[in-house]
Amino acid sequence: MAYPYQIKSLEDYQQQYQQSVIDPEGFWANVADHFYWRRKWDKVLDWNFKDPDVKWFTGGKLNITENCLDRHLGTLGNTPAIIWEPNDPEERHRVITYRDLYNKVCQFANVLKNNGVKKGDRVCIYMGMIPELAIAVLACARIGAIHSVVFGGFSAQSIADRIQDAQASLVITCDGAFRGNKDIPLKSVIDDALIGCPSVKKVIVCTRTRTPVSMIKGRDLWWEDEIKQVETMGNPPCPAEEMDAEDMLFILYTSGSTGKPKGVVHTVGGYMVYANYTFVNTFQYQPGEVYFCTADVGWITGHSYIIYGPLSAGATTLMFEGVPTYPDAGRLWSIVDKFRVNILYTAPTAIRSLMGYGLGPVNHKDLSSLRKLGSVGEPINEEAWHWFKDHIGKGRCPIVDTWWQTETGGIMITPIAGITKEKPGYATLPLPGIQPILVDETGKEVTGNNVNGNLCIKFPWPGMLRTTYGDHERCRTTYFATYENLYFTGDGCLRDEDGYYRITGRVDDVLNVSGHRIGTAEVENAINMHAGVVESAVVGYPHDIKGQGIYAYVITERQTHDPELTKKDILQTVSRIIGPIAKPDKIQFVSGLPKTRSGKIMRRILRKIAEGELDNLGDISTLLDPVVVEEIKRGRL
Ligand code: WT7
Repeated sequence: MAYPYQIKSLEDYQQQYQQSVIDPEGFWANVADHFYWRRKWDKVLDWNFKDPDVKWFTGGKLNITENCLDRHLGTLGNTPAIIWEPNDPEERHRVITYRDLYNKVCQFANVLKNNGVKKGDRVCIYMGMIPELAIAVLACARIGAIHSVVFGGFSAQSIADRIQDAQASLVITCDGAFRGNKDIPLKSVIDDALIGCPSVKKVIVCTRTRTPVSMIKGRDLWWEDEIKQVETMGNPPCPAEEMDAEDMLFILYTSGSTGKPKGVVHTVGGYMVYANYTFVNTFQYQPGEVYFCTADVGWITGHSYIIYGPLSAGATTLMFEGVPTYPDAGRLWSIVDKFRVNILYTAPTAIRSLMGYGLGPVNHKDLSSLRKLGSVGEPINEEAWHWFKDHIGKGRCPIVDTWWQTETGGIMITPIAGITKEKPGYATLPLPGIQPILVDETGKEVTGNNVNGNLCIKFPWPGMLRTTYGDHERCRTTYFATYENLYFTGDGCLRDEDGYYRITGRVDDVLNVSGHRIGTAEVENAINMHAGVVESAVVGYPHDIKGQGIYAYVITERQTHDPELTKKDILQTVSRIIGPIAKPDKIQFVSGLPKTRSGKIMRRILRKIAEGELDNLGDISTLLDPVVVEEIKRGRL
């Protein structure tokens, strides 16, 4: 059997789960035994959640790319590792076998070495969804450089913040990226970002769109020229750097409740074991299956479930450059049809938006290859769940509603495809190794079923974050200080009569817009950069397609003569500072904000108004100026 640790039945799940709680070290050692280690670990786990200090597989030596590539060459050399579908359906797709991928990764790893990149150096990757993005990521891992992938939708300012925080020495980008009918000028955005980034010595630019770019002498290099250099050297092999299990693999920035995104750090050994275990089990991956995750590699879903999970399992992973609605709303179904996709992993926001086009784009597409479906990133409403089940899965494919986070590295609570009895809207049960606990505001455990609480995890798992880059104290206060000895997820959660978990959404000031995580404080900071703005407050509200929309209350310096123009201007400011994904859906100009006597904005009230619950605002008598509430209510959009 390909994966001896693959769960086979509900009884097997229960048994593995019990085992993982009684003897976590033995449980994970058994899984880890099926990977290639240069040297086995001395100790499986050392931990405390106080500092926090968590170490898995201490003393173990390995390289994740030897597990994703080298070890498959004998058996899967000619098997597709990556199938790539371009944005334009008229352009030819690419199939990259494990042998090809190995060669390309070694080649580009040598390019990085030729440009002075060493183990431990940080490399920022800002590219579109082309195979070279996966190659760049794996090439970093091969030589022990720490990659920091930044999603192609972030602005120059956001990139600069991330590069400065990580002190990256090299950037890998493209001339541009195709997404739907857009052509995003990645290199020119990088040029703007690098004005304030003296740590960056080299920029490698991969050709994709042939958009004209300006190259800076001594700094900017073409990917293709650098590859030629390595070819001239006779394509030498690139031995994998020997890494400690706890060496950093990557940094991925994510939003929190403060204004500044934090660099979540994952390490080599534990992350590899966890990404693989959760991939193989959640999707019940069988050798030969074609697996398609529609996420972008710029998010954790892409890291764990386009690249590391599937490749470490020797799977065939489909990478799609474009968007679900281009050239029409049947694109995902055409791709399923074209490549006989067996497993489709996507986001509720995509499902909801495609539902809006009716069944026209679905009809006449052959979806009979599909066996398993997955959802990720935000709560899936029942309507979307049923549409996915009935019209895409034709009633015969299980759906796995996977709950997890950038910080968890991999899937935590989810049905196991075809094994766990599913319930729409529920992430159902924890995977083996995961010990969820619900607590009330005071940190007291909420026991029994049919209860609500804040979702925490009480025992470490191999894929968990180790720190936030350059600021361990921030990691402690954000995740481990709210409740003693627990990892706090930031999510509210319900445990129903069957002991099933349903995630109810964030309980902090973090929004989930189309599955993208955005901090309200970040958006406020961006709005406040606008010269005419005095103060702003941002909250989320239910949005039919995006899940949550962004509602901004803004105080301007003086009455604006042309409110529409000012709105447009504010949107542009937010786009420039964060990126288009953070643009408010609604901007309401107000003359004041509801504040307590100590000056704190009462977000609860603003949230209620944005949601349209005008009669249910609760106690407003403690407000400094209760009158503003009336004005805000009247002006509600
Ligand atoms: C937040 C994490 C997990 C990778 C993509 C997002 C929300 C995620 C679900 C789900 C309900 C979900 C949570 C979580 N979330 N999956 N299946 N049901 N909510 O990763 O950007 O780190 O965001 O997304 O609120 O905390 P992320």
